[in-house]
Amino acid sequence: MSDLLLPSRRDFLKTTSRVAAASALAGVSIPFVHAQEDNTLQVALVGCGGRGTGAADNAMSVTGPPIKLVAMADVFENRLKSSFNGLKSKHEKNMDVPADRQFVGFDGYKKAIDSLKPGGVAIFATPPAFRWVHFKYAIEKGVNVFMEKPVTIDGPSTRKMLELNEEAKKKGLHVAVGLMCRHGRERQELFAKIKAGELGDIILERAYRMAGPIASFRVKKKAPDEKEVAYQIKNFHSFLWASGGAFSDFNIHNIDEACWMKDAWPVSAQANGGRQYREDYVDQNFDHYSVEYTYADGSKFFFEGRNINGCEDRFATYVHGTKGSAIVSSAGHSPAKSKIFKGQNFKSEDVVWSAAQPESNPYQNEWDDLITAIRTNQPYNEVERGAKASLVTAMGRMAAHTGQVITFDQALNWQHDLAPNVETMTMDGPAPVMSDAEGRYPVPQPGINKKSEYPV
Ligand SMILES: NC(=O)c1ccc[n+]([C@@H]2O[C@H](COP(=O)([O-])OP(=O)(O)OC[C@H]3O[C@@H](n4cnc5c(N)ncnc54)[C@H](O)[C@@H]3O)[C@@H](O)[C@H]2O)c1
Repeated sequence: MSDLLLPSRRDFLKTTSRVAAASALAGVSIPFVHAQEDNTLQVALVGCGGRGTGAADNAMSVTGPPIKLVAMADVFENRLKSSFNGLKSKHEKNMDVPADRQFVGFDGYKKAIDSLKPGGVAIFATPPAFRWVHFKYAIEKGVNVFMEKPVTIDGPSTRKMLELNEEAKKKGLHVAVGLMCRHGRERQELFAKIKAGELGDIILERAYRMAGPIASFRVKKKAPDEKEVAYQIKNFHSFLWASGGAFSDFNIHNIDEACWMKDAWPVSAQANGGRQYREDYVDQNFDHYSVEYTYADGSKFFFEGRNINGCEDRFATYVHGTKGSAIVSSAGHSPAKSKIFKGQNFKSEDVVWSAAQPESNPYQNEWDDLITAIRTNQPYNEVERGAKASLVTAMGRMAAHTGQVITFDQALNWQHDLAPNVETMTMDGPAPVMSDAEGRYPVPQPGINKKSEYPV
């Protein structure tokens, strides 16, 4: 084929959807700019734990012009070092993080962001309480951002995040949120089919995240010589201020993908939950939750969350419409194995569409999409969606913890700030929540505490 018959790169991007562009670019190396220009894209990692390391790996795995990790920050040196060593073993050529760009401490994020040239990307993968603080500085410095979910933990942090984002939009920053299921090509195909009416009207959704006690869902008493703030940060799923608790941290993906398929956010939630088996664990979480979300059209979304051993494990999202039903995700984040059925019974003989296998990795897709948008200077901002997903998740948690019906507006305008001192926090404290004399932290008391999620 003559080159003249090939569409120019500009035409290609104009006429191809972002999704298609991203997958096409994933396998092809295209010269983006003049050979003389340094088109290296710089990345800084803030929060060098499991997911931060994974996100940096995904960033450096995007094909095309070079992407280099140039700075790392964490509050614990050992976390930074192990992330550095892990990444170096795979991406040595793309790593340029000398000792003087490895920053340990609560102010490390500023130094990591300051290390980026304009157009670079800061990755925020600390516990979510710090998200708005780090985002605020990134906006000030005009750098692009990839921030992990949840992006907020409660009403006050959601209000701050939405307000800050107005500034990010004005500056034209590219901001991605790690709700990677939204970047699953198979779920995107399912969403298009639902929008085209293949299920009719969605009248019911169900989602489940039920497993044993994972991550820091529960924690035993702090050792007397450990610093309070360090202990709470290390066990952040155990503390509502740090993560929104296990409920927000674990369940947001399934809640978000259900809302996505409905193409709406619920207007209210009512919920139950409790602490069934807590032995000598001292965290703030319930070990089971059941939430009934209501959408504006009256349709319902039921969510079940559980962290108890020996019960049925289930990790899935289902949608029921007037013309049929669908599996959004069947057993975890990926592969989704999305399917559409006629009828409501999920019988194999009723399958009318199934996602092609094998599936691409949504954690890589979300980076391919972000980098494509940066390289081609297309608008890209997922913050409002991420903040609303975080708030709707918190709304279910608040309903369970208070025993009240909580509306979207009540959740957004909630007065109790779970992490009021997060911007000035130091390892020496104070921590946003303290234990009693027995080392136990305050737990929700539905029906008793109605304006806050635990006694304050
Ligand atoms: N998208 C996903 O599927 C997915 C999967 C796992 C985790 N996550 C999210 O990623 C975030 C991190 O989770 P994780 O599992 O990697 O936890 P982690 O504990 O492994 O990592 C968090 C890191 O942040 C560091 N840190 C804490 N406070 C900090 C601060 N103020 N400044 C700098 N560093 C700080 C910790 O020391 C730790 O190294 C959470 O928001 C979590 O919900 C998302």
